[in-house]
Amino acid sequence: MTGTPEPQNENLTLLGRRVLLGITGSIAAYKSAFLARELIKRGAEVRIVMTPSAIEFITPLTLSTLTGKPVHSDFTENKDSGEWTNHVELGLWGDLFLTAPCTAATLSAFANGTCSNLLQAVFLSARCPVMVAPAMDLDMFTNEATLVNLKTLGERGVSVIEPASGALASGLEGKGRMEEPEAIADFVEDFFKIGMPLAGKKVVVTAGPTEEPIDAVRYLGNRSTGKMGFELAARLANLGASVTLIAGPVKLDTPPRVSKRIDVMTAKEMYEVTMEVWPEMDAGIACAAVADMRPVNPASSKLHRGDLTDEIMLENTPDILLEMGVRKSASQVLMGFALETDSVEESLKSAEGKLERKNLDFIVMNTLADEGAGFSHDTNKVTVLQKVNIHTETRIFELKSKREVAHDLIDMLSTLLIS
Ligand code: PMT
Repeated sequence: MTGTPEPQNENLTLLGRRVLLGITGSIAAYKSAFLARELIKRGAEVRIVMTPSAIEFITPLTLSTLTGKPVHSDFTENKDSGEWTNHVELGLWGDLFLTAPCTAATLSAFANGTCSNLLQAVFLSARCPVMVAPAMDLDMFTNEATLVNLKTLGERGVSVIEPASGALASGLEGKGRMEEPEAIADFVEDFFKIGMPLAGKKVVVTAGPTEEPIDAVRYLGNRSTGKMGFELAARLANLGASVTLIAGPVKLDTPPRVSKRIDVMTAKEMYEVTMEVWPEMDAGIACAAVADMRPVNPASSKLHRGDLTDEIMLENTPDILLEMGVRKSASQVLMGFALETDSVEESLKSAEGKLERKNLDFIVMNTLADEGAGFSHDTNKVTVLQKVNIHTETRIFELKSKREVAHDLIDMLSTLLIS
């Protein structure tokens, strides 16, 4: 077992944060180059989406050179081949979607749900927190229409980085000048530090398979890759939770900001470390595909052909989730998974049994009978059963990427965790 702490560097305050930077057609667009550089200097990964009019003020070449990534401004990447820009993927990529500078026109489009360019489509698809740094002339900024748009966006959870006062490009003096790049980067930093809905919450996630040795080289295992569990850990960490990720043998990097990763091999090891941390946790998610049985007395060296018997004696492994449910306090929230292979109807019956027996708040059912669901794929299709008093509520989700599934599941878990 090894613990892999997150790399620490005091200056890289935005290490691992993914900032999707929107740039609109304002003279302040030149400052976006400095902003992108400042965010990258602090450790963030930055991708840029521009409106067509922003390109009049600063070239995509400047910005792609600074970020080392292609800049997106059109729905089609290549008009001849018909290759298009996936605005949903961009909207899901970011931990934060920051539009700086944000003109009066874009503010209005965001407030009214207009979708006439790529940036606006990304805004409508974004699942991460959204920030705008307005930049416009004083009279435009104080116009009733702009103020109403800002209020509407604020009420919908968009953070507004207030413009500064000073000399404006129009020659007027007053409020409307986009905040300086360093100050915006500070705002972003603070937002990640304290503006996180799950800040202060501790969550343990189990992920991946376990391997139960038969001898020194063979084992009983399963096809779990850990992808689903790692996406859940990533989402929790992005929302500010302190995450302990207990991983079976997988080939995945630790998601940024996961506080602690503990690698284990067997169900017994996973049981021991989970039980050690569980009492300090606010919530637990058991996504690991834990072996239910293990060979009795595995050989410590390789068994040769002649040594192998026709039968392997098996015994039960500890049921980690069952024990978490037994030890669960009134304030702890527990989410389990149920991997089934039967029809949805049969699978739901089995999942409901696990929800009750293991004393869970949620069980996430995925069945291999659904194409694209379960092991290995980058997608999953889940149905979530939630215990509400003496009733069970059911939510059926469509086939989605595992990242999107993680967003849905953490949204549901959060309703109990922050209530
Ligand atoms: O890793 P991926 O390739 O992305 O695939 C994701 C997944 C299919 C593994 C995941 O979505 C999933 O379904 N995980 C649970 C797999 C499983 O073991 O299901 P189960 O129905 O056998 O177990 C029910 C629950 O009890 C699970 O939460 C499991 O973690 C837990 N359990 C089971 C046995 C055991 N000994 N200890 C446990 O804690």
